[in-house]
Amino acid sequence: MDKDFEIIVRELADHFKIKGEIVSCEPYGNGHINSTFVLVCIDETGKRRRYILQKINKSVFKSPEEVMENIVRVTAFLKSNPASLKTLSVIFNKDNLSYYKTSEGDYWRIYKFVESSICLDLPETEEDFYQSAFAFGRFQRDLNEFPADTLHETIPDFHNTPKRYETFLKAVREDRCGRAASVADEIKFFTDRADFYSVLLDSCKLGLLPLRVSHNDTKINNSMLHEDTRTALCVIDLDTIMPGFSVTDFGDAIRFGASTAAEDEKDLSKVNLDMNMFKIYAKGFLDGCGGQLLDSEIMLLPEGAKMMTIECGMRFLTDYLEGDTYFRTHYEGHNLDRCHTQMKLVSDMEANWDEMKATVKEHCKNK
Ligand SMILES: Nc1ncnc2c1ncn2[C@@H]1O[C@H](COP(=O)(O)OP(=O)(O)O)[C@@H](O)[C@H]1O
Ligand SMILES: [Mg+2]
Repeated sequence: MDKDFEIIVRELADHFKIKGEIVSCEPYGNGHINSTFVLVCIDETGKRRRYILQKINKSVFKSPEEVMENIVRVTAFLKSNPASLKTLSVIFNKDNLSYYKTSEGDYWRIYKFVESSICLDLPETEEDFYQSAFAFGRFQRDLNEFPADTLHETIPDFHNTPKRYETFLKAVREDRCGRAASVADEIKFFTDRADFYSVLLDSCKLGLLPLRVSHNDTKINNSMLHEDTRTALCVIDLDTIMPGFSVTDFGDAIRFGASTAAEDEKDLSKVNLDMNMFKIYAKGFLDGCGGQLLDSEIMLLPEGAKMMTIECGMRFLTDYLEGDTYFRTHYEGHNLDRCHTQMKLVSDMEANWDEMKATVKEHCKNK
C-alpha cells in the first residue's frame, strides 16, 4: 500500500466494526460505477478476514443515504429467511450507520467479502449464464413478499420509457449539435415504435405486472457463482434496487448477455440476438423465480427484453444528439455505433418474436 493511501484506509476502516489488523488494501474487480477495494485483515486468532471497501459514486447516486437504506432493508429481509440465497453483509460503522461520510462529503461503506466465489465478466459456458439467470431469478423469489413500494426510488424514472422517449423527442427538436438530419433513419426507428413504450407501465396499471424489487443491473458480474460447484451463490451490487419490474431485470440481462457482439460493434452483421442464450436465460431466471411470477408477467418477459434494448438505444441516440455528455465516449460517433447495435438487436427480437413468446409460454403454469 502506498503510504498516503494507507493512512486514508486506516482512518476510514477505523470508523467501522471490522475485525483484526489491516494488512493490505488494493483496488478490486471490474466495476464501472463505484471505487472498489479489497481490504485484508488478520484477526487475533490469526484468521484472515477480507472485506470490500467502496466509495459510492455520488454523481450517479444523488442520495447515498437512501441507497444504503434500501440495501440495509433488503439484505436484512433476505437474511431473516434462511431459505434465501446468500446476500451481501453490510458492516456498520461505530455510530451504527451503514456508511461513513468524510469531511469532503464522500460516502464509504464496507461489505464482508463473499468468499469461495467467482465473479465473471462474461459467461465461459452456457451453464454460467444459466446460473447467473438463476441467481437473479432467486432474488425475485426471495423478495416476493417484500413491500417494493416502500423502497426509495434512488434514480427517479430509471426505466420510465415513455419519459425517456419524451427526453429523446426534445433532443431531436432542439438538435443542439446539428446532428439530427444525419440520423433521420435512426430517429424514425424510434418514433415508429412510439406505441410500444408504455406497454409495461400500462400492464402494471392493469394488474398484469406487479411492482417488485428490481435489481436494475443484472450483468453477470453482479452475480457470484460458487468457486467449486459453479452454481448461483449470491447477487451483489445492490445500489440500484428500486421499486420496479421482474421483466426489466430479465430484459437488461438479455440485452447485454444474449447479444453475439459487443455493445459498440461496428460490423452489424456480427450483432445478433442469440436465441439459444435467450432460452437458457429464460429457463435459469424462471427456475430461480420458483413459480412466483404471474403467468401474465412471464408472458411479458419478451417485452421486457425489447423495452430494455430499445430504451438503451434511444438513450444512446439522445446522448449523440445532445453532444455526448452523459455516456463516456472514446471517439466521435461512439454513441451512434452503440445505438446501431441496439437497433439491430431490437429488429432481431421483432423477427424472433413468436419464438420468444413461445419460449416463455412453456414456463407458464396455465399454458
Ligand atoms: N461483497 C463482495 N465480495 C467479493 N467481491 C465483491 C463484493 N462486492 C463487490 N465485489 C467485486 O467488486 C466488483 C465491483 O463491485 P460492484 O458492487 O459491482 O461495483 P460497481 O457498481 O462499480 O459495479 C464486483 O463485480 C465484484 O467482482
Ligand atoms: Mg457491479
